[in-house]
Amino acid sequence: MDSKVAFITGVARGQGRAHAVKLAGRGFGIIGIDICADIPSMDYPNASPEDLQETVRAVKEAGGEIVALQADVRDLDALQRAHDEGVAKFGRIDVLIANAGITRLSAGGDRATIWKDIIDVNLTGVWNTVEVVLPTIRAGERGGSIVITSSSAGLKGTGTDKAGAQAYTAAKRGLVGLMQVLANEYAPDRIRVNTIHPTGVVSGMTVNDSMKALHEAAARGEKTTIGAMQNALPIDILQAEDIANAVAWLVSDEAHYITGVALPLDAGYTVR
Ligand SMILES: NC(=O)c1ccc[n+]([C@@H]2O[C@H](COP(=O)([O-])OP(=O)(O)OC[C@H]3O[C@@H](n4cnc5c(N)ncnc54)[C@H](O)[C@@H]3O)[C@@H](O)[C@H]2O)c1
Repeated sequence: MDSKVAFITGVARGQGRAHAVKLAGRGFGIIGIDICADIPSMDYPNASPEDLQETVRAVKEAGGEIVALQADVRDLDALQRAHDEGVAKFGRIDVLIANAGITRLSAGGDRATIWKDIIDVNLTGVWNTVEVVLPTIRAGERGGSIVITSSSAGLKGTGTDKAGAQAYTAAKRGLVGLMQVLANEYAPDRIRVNTIHPTGVVSGMTVNDSMKALHEAAARGEKTTIGAMQNALPIDILQAEDIANAVAWLVSDEAHYITGVALPLDAGYTVR
């Protein structure tokens, strides 16, 4: 029971899987959840149960142990059940990576539903996750680290009439506020709370038919929500492992006095 344990949401693919594999390789036990089901207002599919099984396989291959369960971050009771099952196995939680998120950048759909679903998952879902996991981190009395996945959109809003992109930016910016109050409140317990702000990352969110159509429209010179998105460094899109490497450091003892920080992981997107 000496190994540290990380609770990760959105673990079935993309950045969540990369965090799980990276931390498992560093000796962490992993408790991971994912909805593994689509949300009708979105314009691309969420992960599947098979994706979650692939994360389980990859974590084991990295030498780690994982409790992986289907749960929706909008559902406090489901999160609590997943938490309880994970804690029954590992006995503790030291790190929370609140990573699950959705977006919709294309036109169409019911604007109010798109707005509500994105706020519910990306903002309220993170609050729900902290609500369930934080008491266990505190009870350990060993300090801890919470990393909330925001976005470059959470630091810099680009103009858009798309309800999904408006909600995404609002939710991701809201996470900075949540991070700041939590960082202040739980600093006496040596629990560090930071947000990360990735630029574009290869994942299910970016590699799908809807995003392909947006890229094609941008290439034709049409105004799109992705047209203004460019990094300063000469790299179009990052890999999930680039984000996981930075987060592995952020949750490590090497970063033990870093809290209350909104950390861009963005190849210079925000400075550009
Ligand atoms: N990909 C990018 O370009 C990019 C850039 C900046 C920030 N982000 C953020 O990074 C995080 C991870 O996204 P990703 O890039 O790995 O995309 P992704 O779509 O591959 O992964 C997101 C995961 O979250 C899961 N999920 C969605 N809704 C959920 C819910 N209600 N409950 C539980 N799980 C849910 C999905 O099934 C999926 O496995 C998200 O918060 C996203 O907003 C992504």
